[in-house]
Amino acid sequence: MMNNVPAHDPAGWRNVPATSKPIDPAKAKKLLAAEWKKFSATTAKSAKHNKVASKVLPLGVTSSFQHWDPYPISIASAEGAYFTDVDGRKLLDMSMGFGAMLVGHLNPLVVKNVKEALDKTGTLFVTPSPTATEVAERFKKRFGIDMLRFTNSGTESTMYAIRVARAVTKKKAIIKIEGGYHGGYDPLQVSVKPALADIGPAEAPIADAPFDAVPGDVYVVPYNDLPYLEKIMKEHGDDIACFMVEPVVENLSIILPDKGYLAGARKLCDKYKIALIFDEVKTGLTAGVAGASKRVGVTPDLITLAKSIGGGLPVAAFGGKKKYMDAVVDGRMAHFGTYNGNPLAMAAMMAVDDLCTPQALASAETINMAALAKMDAIIAKYELPAHTIGFGVKGAIIWSPTPVRNYRDFKNTDFLMAELSWLWGINRGVITPPGLDEQWLVSLAHTSADMDKLVTEFEDLAQALRS
Ligand SMILES: Cc1ncc(COP(=O)(O)O)c(C=O)c1O
Repeated sequence: MMNNVPAHDPAGWRNVPATSKPIDPAKAKKLLAAEWKKFSATTAKSAKHNKVASKVLPLGVTSSFQHWDPYPISIASAEGAYFTDVDGRKLLDMSMGFGAMLVGHLNPLVVKNVKEALDKTGTLFVTPSPTATEVAERFKKRFGIDMLRFTNSGTESTMYAIRVARAVTKKKAIIKIEGGYHGGYDPLQVSVKPALADIGPAEAPIADAPFDAVPGDVYVVPYNDLPYLEKIMKEHGDDIACFMVEPVVENLSIILPDKGYLAGARKLCDKYKIALIFDEVKTGLTAGVAGASKRVGVTPDLITLAKSIGGGLPVAAFGGKKKYMDAVVDGRMAHFGTYNGNPLAMAAMMAVDDLCTPQALASAETINMAALAKMDAIIAKYELPAHTIGFGVKGAIIWSPTPVRNYRDFKNTDFLMAELSWLWGINRGVITPPGLDEQWLVSLAHTSADMDKLVTEFEDLAQALRS
């Protein structure tokens, strides 16, 4: 316990300074206004591109996550840890496709395997193929699961995992975490970063569904709250098929599980005959060689994988225990998909499996931990009301002097500072993901010198804030 805050799972990194001094909001606003001016002055071609793109693509982007006001930066090419934008600037990519580019842009082995598939194998068979079987065997072994099926996106994987859980438990309702994001399936649209005004008190969150979704029965629980999870299971367990959770929440910056939270959730799911689904779309190989489940020592019934497993190709998977995957075998849950297991995606996954050795991931994690420690020193030196958080090869600065354990804590962080810090980085050649949660990824292509760029621009910001 630190200031009455429970300890986090020991696999994660969190360093909250004992003291800090507030930031003058007027100063932060002034700096932010200057940074937006600088942004406009240096990104003329991105502005122009967005105007053209907006005529054909809503918001000028291919996924609404990519958009920000007044316009996002358009990228012409990427290699290793770097982007080149349409204005010709070289930018350090710290977002790396939200984790999908874990092995680096245009990783030579991914390129080699995919080229070979293009030259010799084919692009699609829609029949069984030894390559898909070999990749399935490798990932089954890696993640310690009995069976898996490939899909083309995290959205498909989370949808099918829920449907498997329903088919096996013969129950339909689901439980999800307040604020959590799991892709586009209707029940998972409930309470995704909802407005606080719409969701009632923290002790009894109200499920908030957008008008366009038909979610069915969805119970929303705060992360890291076992008593409330048990209350919901006790009251509605006879109707609940599954509890879907990111083992480490990586869509609200990074929120670590309290020590014992996931093991407790496992026990409750067993008690109330509810499937435990770990959505490892974001954690996956970024959390370690066998994902976050292995790292925290808790085995879910089903897992969903995407992003980091595919070297940038559109590939994902769901899988887990035989008892559950048997529902696909006997047709209780029908799983189809024209592009599932296509040879190009399989070639990339084979490369990712070869590349993501324990040594390679450990070395990226060491670089991450060293960067987090340097960020800690800056936070301490300038007495910033912020702290560091990390898991595996991901890290973040949280603009809060106290730990964040759930969505309501996350909403309490300083979004003005998050915006300033994000834009400050962009204007100095370092891109972290849009969405103001400042999560970075150390890919296999990042070096300590690359991470020092992130650290240096962060110190420049600290200096500007305190000058
Ligand atoms: C935890 C989680 N689950 C599912 C998804 C959906 O994945 P996709 O964008 O591949 O559909 C995402 C996407 O960011 C995610 O972060």
